[in-house]
Amino acid sequence: MTHQHHHSHGQHQRGHEHDRGLSGLVRYLSLLPFMWRSPVSDAVVGLVRPAPGEHVIDLGAGMGPATVSAAGSGALVLAVDPTPFMRRILKLRLLPCPHRGRITVVDGAAESLPVESGTIDALWTVNTVHHWTNVASAVGEMRRVLRPGGRVLLVDEDFDDPAHPFHERMKPRRAAHAHHFGAVDPQAVADLFREHGFVGVEGGVEQVAGRPAKVVRAMAPPRS
Ligand SMILES: C[S@@+](CC[C@H](N)C(=O)[O-])C[C@H]1O[C@@H](n2cnc3c(N)ncnc32)[C@H](O)[C@@H]1O
Repeated sequence: MTHQHHHSHGQHQRGHEHDRGLSGLVRYLSLLPFMWRSPVSDAVVGLVRPAPGEHVIDLGAGMGPATVSAAGSGALVLAVDPTPFMRRILKLRLLPCPHRGRITVVDGAAESLPVESGTIDALWTVNTVHHWTNVASAVGEMRRVLRPGGRVLLVDEDFDDPAHPFHERMKPRRAAHAHHFGAVDPQAVADLFREHGFVGVEGGVEQVAGRPAKVVRAMAPPRS
């Protein structure tokens, strides 16, 4: 066990209804080719630069594209996801992974992170913000778990932008998720980070791995 500091919160019932049950499973299976490896996840890990020995969280890790890439850097990765199916696939994926000793897969959600306060050096999330049920409590949780100076990077690909290479392919999903994808306002999320005392906060739309994405960066206030 590489992470000594997390504790179990039991079964989470977070996330949207449509992530659960058979229909959620079928939808996620259809996305498998995009959720195994992703240039966006690689880019996010490159931006966060997890250092060897750092305790980091891949929030809503899914099938673990960012988790696997970050563990390769020597960081201790806590892969948090509320969907049992995702955690099962990720655990299977890790069996042959040479870095699996540095990865812990746990049940949890943005609104309820299964870690002790002040223990995390960095946290990122890729394509999950549109799933969050309570953005304000998610930001509060990040403030709680990050150590002073701990960094945050939230990235949600903007499939609504016609310049996104998957804009057409994601059309049915965009229709189904209209109230989620579109609901992510990076500036409003950035304001929440400021309200929670984070510093160096930036929120906007930018290119990540050549794809338009909603991006929020923030840092927990350094120890004064
Ligand atoms: C589109 S997938 C992205 C997975 C992975 N980060 C990737 O880039 O491939 C969305 C993930 O968010 C997770 N999720 C759903 N609700 C969440 C919440 N409230 N907090 C964190 N993650 C959540 C889902 O279980 C799913 O694994």
